[in-house]
Amino acid sequence: MLTQTHAKARGLADLPPVQNDSLIALIGMVDADPRPEKIDVGVGVFRDGAGNTPILKVIKEAEQRLVDTQVTKAYLGSAGDKRFAELLRPILLGPHAGDERIAGLQTPGGCGALRLGFELIAQANPDARVLVGTPTWPNHPPIIRSVGLAQVDYPFYERGQGVIRFEDMIAALKGGEPGDIALLHGCCHNPTGADLSEEQWREVVRVVSERGLIPLIDIAYQGFGRGLDEDAFGVRLMLDACDEMIVAQSCDKNFSCYRDRVGSLWVKTPSAEMTRTAMAHVHQIAREMWSMPPDHGAACVHIILDDEELRARWLVELAAMRDRINSVRQRIAAADPRIDYIGRQFGMFSMLPLSKEQVLKLRAEDAIYMADSGRFNVVGMGDAQIDRFIAAVVGALGN
Ligand SMILES: Cc1ncc(COP(=O)(O)O)c(C=O)c1O
Repeated sequence: MLTQTHAKARGLADLPPVQNDSLIALIGMVDADPRPEKIDVGVGVFRDGAGNTPILKVIKEAEQRLVDTQVTKAYLGSAGDKRFAELLRPILLGPHAGDERIAGLQTPGGCGALRLGFELIAQANPDARVLVGTPTWPNHPPIIRSVGLAQVDYPFYERGQGVIRFEDMIAALKGGEPGDIALLHGCCHNPTGADLSEEQWREVVRVVSERGLIPLIDIAYQGFGRGLDEDAFGVRLMLDACDEMIVAQSCDKNFSCYRDRVGSLWVKTPSAEMTRTAMAHVHQIAREMWSMPPDHGAACVHIILDDEELRARWLVELAAMRDRINSVRQRIAAADPRIDYIGRQFGMFSMLPLSKEQVLKLRAEDAIYMADSGRFNVVGMGDAQIDRFIAAVVGALGN
């Protein structure tokens, strides 16, 4: 007779508590603050001069066309909207658009692309290590961890001076083993705003290709820095030199459709046939994770890019977002030499040279909310709030 042990099965009740995501917690704090003058530069969305995150006019129009013309919501398959990827291809890849060794597919946002890209790497080589410059976007490490890859950090940024620790970066990349992954930000580095210069990109590309590393470039803000082509400089230069490469792309910022989750993943291997094999794995992994990506946002981007007039109007709206980011940067930079580096940085984020105590004091006394690290969104506030923000920050820096 079998003896039964009645030990309690492990179940959902045994799950340990999860540490709160500090940026999500910050949103809660902003919501709970009743002071009408509060400034939220913690959140990661573009705000216009009036302090709003409006839907782009071209997106509104594309949505209307979609409503008027869409005749079915039948499944599209794991590749999502194929025309969307085709239209995005030249925008991202430029002169490499015709290269048959590069293939792409629609993903649920840049996040989905990152997860899918890292899953692919983990399948191809579970021993690959991911070389990560810190600080980085806080969601990178958990995604890397979730696929079981080892992460090796190196210092990327000298916070007090607002500059890249380029020698450390190069030394770290030189220390990588062939097959290791170099995770790089394509443009508008989050959280530092510190982008590689063209000369620095050349050096990084040289080391990555000489060492046989596989670059994974995360490009979530194309068009928010210097321009659409300019912001893809690193991606394209890397494609010149590397036979194996992955790009995780997002349209959520440059089409301002954050919640619609629009992104894409791009894979390059040494041959068109190997790329077909790699993409078969990508599709299989996508099927296991989300089966197929949501359609609506990508369908709107597809409509815009496929229509000459809408596309031209998108470029104008994108330029307006970029111009606002860069003009607010100049205004903040001009306020004090200790933060003038902000004028030489790109994208929505930079880090202020403030201690956690100073950040908390700004929160308590001035109702200004930014991440504990001093990372702030330069376009998190409307025009009317900029002077007060600058005065409070300069005050916090002291004499
Ligand atoms: C560096 C970086 N990569 C990827 C993403 C992901 O973007 P998405 O919202 O499209 O998933 C973000 C979003 O904040 C980001 O900052």
